Amino acid sequence: MSHFSYRNGALHAESVALSDIADKFGTPTYVYSKQALEENFSAWSDACKGRDALVCYAMKANSNLAILRLLAALGSGFDLVSGGELLRVLAAGGDPRKCLFSGVGKTRDEMRLALSHDILCFNVESIPELHRLNEVAGQLGKKAPVSLRVNPNVDPKTHPYIATGLKANKFGVAFSDALNAYRLAASLPHIDVVGIDCHIGSQLLDDAPLLEALDKLIDLVDTLDKEGIAVHHLDLGGGIGIVYDDERPVAVGAYLGRVFARIDSWRKSRYAGSPIKVCFEPGRSIVGNAGVLLTRVEYLKPGEEKNFCIVDAAMNDLMRPAMYEAWMGVQTVTQREGRALTWDVVGPVCESGDWLARERALVVEPDDLLVINSAGAYGMTMASNYNSRGRAAEVLVDQDRCVLIRQRETPESLFALEQQASLD
Ligand code: LLP
Repeated sequence: MSHFSYRNGALHAESVALSDIADKFGTPTYVYSKQALEENFSAWSDACKGRDALVCYAMKANSNLAILRLLAALGSGFDLVSGGELLRVLAAGGDPRKCLFSGVGKTRDEMRLALSHDILCFNVESIPELHRLNEVAGQLGKKAPVSLRVNPNVDPKTHPYIATGLKANKFGVAFSDALNAYRLAASLPHIDVVGIDCHIGSQLLDDAPLLEALDKLIDLVDTLDKEGIAVHHLDLGGGIGIVYDDERPVAVGAYLGRVFARIDSWRKSRYAGSPIKVCFEPGRSIVGNAGVLLTRVEYLKPGEEKNFCIVDAAMNDLMRPAMYEAWMGVQTVTQREGRALTWDVVGPVCESGDWLARERALVVEPDDLLVINSAGAYGMTMASNYNSRGRAAEVLVDQDRCVLIRQRETPESLFALEQQASLD
């Protein structure tokens, strides 16, 4: 059920009118529904009940502290890709021992930080990274818990920019090299092999590629077991898609049901080793449809070939259309009667690529409010200050109440770190 719906012709987030949010906090503003976040997280946690499983929210999708705090309180762990993200988890009261650290370019400083907080596991993506982690852990007198991110060479059938599990991608250790990489890991004095992981891509509508990847990982765990290398957890990454337009993504519960069924039958038939914990790293499926970007129409500019609806949000606020030609839904906050015209919804940034939606039938007037739907994931986290635009405010709605969870950036804050220094 969507938590953004019309009541008497006015779009609401839960029970709060979006026009009230615009009046109170201005635009552009990201608005999130607490109930939607809780429901989306529950779809994962309910399906994991009674299982040795951990949901580690991929916080790159949305790392606002209030959202992290909410998810941490629901028992979520976190999938991180930087030291900065770990500091956010700590600031939000999250548990570092439920954190997985992914990413191809971990620095020594980031490794030290993560080791000093005893994170659950490093998802190591290359042999040089393994050597570096061994060295850094040795200097601290520690053993680093490690999972190797294996690249299963499975086609996730998604946008090429968000496919990660193919041979041509920079991520993970090639499947054919994985056994040797594990042998090396097991031989290093400051590495403790604890898991295996993969993440094949994002916005997957079908779980068949994920299950294919799972089968490959299972085979590898069996092989490792024969070599005396025990793996205690299996991490399938994130990737489950959401509805932007008319997609029909697999339901989280159905996907997890299939994962656990395979794991159960594997353990019964072939696997005689110790129990295995299953981890997941969902991002988009938890926050994506829990947020909208609220924006105001500045000007209408009808033209010979195109009609432009110029709004106060832009590609710097929401990169997905410019970067992936992503289709995002647009709605007017006030439902208007009248004849719809076809509009390109664009921002004020000086780039032809600055568009949020193309060729949409809208009944719209200057000063109207619009929302861009399903903008909760990879919206604010990918925002920039291009054109010296302060990033949007963020507001969390809980039933009939709403609270500011990030202030709009002021122009002064954008250049506060700069110095008018010269070398003369
Ligand atoms: N785990 C790892 C290692 C990842 O790289 C990602 C996403 C996830 C988990 C979470 O995937 P999700 O459940 O959200 O699909 N900016 C793009 C998406 C980039 C995804 C990057 N990795 C977009 O806006 O579509």
